[in-house]
Amino acid sequence: MVHEAFAQWLEREKPISDELVVYACGPEPMMKAVADICLANRIECQLALERHMACGMGVCQGCAIKVKTDEPPGWMFKLVCKDGPVFDASELLWE
Ligand code: FES
Repeated sequence: MVHEAFAQWLEREKPISDELVVYACGPEPMMKAVADICLANRIECQLALERHMACGMGVCQGCAIKVKTDEPPGWMFKLVCKDGPVFDASELLWE
């Protein structure tokens, strides 16, 4: 699995996390696993999300994803087609 190879690479190479940015796309479980590794190691991580998109222009709300906010209730929906598709791993709330 890619995330396992990535974790092994981090352990072996011990890169300076401030100088590393991870860009990921692909299956959502893999991206979540990569994001978890990055967040645990304080590595910036950007994810290109995929969703079924009926309209592709922010009308149908079919591509909504939860993201963290500082205001109650602590999350909100963003649209992958309109607000993304690239999101910082630290802002996503995976379900
Ligand atoms: S695909 Fe319709 S709102 Fe994103």
